[in-house]
Amino acid sequence: MKPTVGLIGLGLMGKPMGRNLLKAGFPLVVWNRTAARAEDLVSEGAKLGANPRETAAAADVLISIVSDPPALEEVLWGARGAMEGLRRGSIYMDSSTISPDLAQRVAAACGERGVEFLDAPVTGGDWGAKKGELVFMIGGRAEVLERARPVLEVLGKKFFLLGANGAGQTVKLAMNLILALEVEALAEALALATSAGVPGEKLVEVMQSSMARAGVLDVKAPLMLQNEYAASFPLRLMHKDMRLALELARQQGVTLPAAAAAYGTYSAVKDASKDDPDYSAVARFWSKSAG
Ligand SMILES: NC(=O)c1ccc[n+]([C@@H]2O[C@H](COP(=O)([O-])OP(=O)(O)OC[C@H]3O[C@@H](n4cnc5c(N)ncnc54)[C@H](OP(=O)(O)O)[C@@H]3O)[C@@H](O)[C@H]2O)c1
Repeated sequence: MKPTVGLIGLGLMGKPMGRNLLKAGFPLVVWNRTAARAEDLVSEGAKLGANPRETAAAADVLISIVSDPPALEEVLWGARGAMEGLRRGSIYMDSSTISPDLAQRVAAACGERGVEFLDAPVTGGDWGAKKGELVFMIGGRAEVLERARPVLEVLGKKFFLLGANGAGQTVKLAMNLILALEVEALAEALALATSAGVPGEKLVEVMQSSMARAGVLDVKAPLMLQNEYAASFPLRLMHKDMRLALELARQQGVTLPAAAAAYGTYSAVKDASKDDPDYSAVARFWSKSAG
């Protein structure tokens, strides 16, 4: 018999996750702050929990996926909160993106109740949630992951166990930092090009045929992890190009805050390097070997 799954949070991510669990035949109990958002899943066969506590009490495996740390604290420790409903021996997985610190507090509270906890934030967007192809970044114990796997496999396609509780959230935050900075970089570059009279589409078109597009993770990351910076494109030249871009921005009256901050770190590493490294050596800014 399949374990009963409790699901708290039926937003863009939670609702399709619930639908996949129903399709896979798991008994499902759902709760959402705005009750109307639970109606679809209830009509498809889910039971409606009266509150987070009852939802947790009904579950062999409880999953939550709500907006942010205050939302999670509310559903866990607010009135009729889930924490007091969780049963000894059950598993609780939180897939919200929250702080590692809060994940560790949740783990400690679960430990006191004899409940196994995994922080299990996801990537893949609502598209991945609909297809059951999310990627999970997990903090917790391997044997708990193995027990949870039949449920997880309905929701996702890859499960990375990254360390103790909190590690999943740490990696999720670091990953979203890359995405956020990449998109900010794109936004700044588009502002620069368009301010100088070149349509943004042209920049995108050129980037799409450039090796540089895929190069960062595939080419630079392995070298950065090994602190190997033999010049492929020397930092001194990238530094010059950033200076020229910032000069152009100044001429156009455009402010590029992320570029200016990055120029600061490239400058520091350029000044401190005694060799002629690749521009990926900007990573030295954060290593003891800098300078
Ligand atoms: N969307 C994505 O592409 C994506 C991708 C990866 C990870 N995530 C992460 O997954 C989590 C959920 O994202 P989402 O896109 O599903 O967000 P969403 O559509 O905005 O849904 C948020 C959910 O949190 C609930 N909620 C918010 N505040 C609450 C509170 N104080 N008490 C109880 N419930 C509360 C909402 O309830 P109501 O319906 O009552 O508002 C809703 O169920 C977030 O942490 C997000 O960062 C999202």
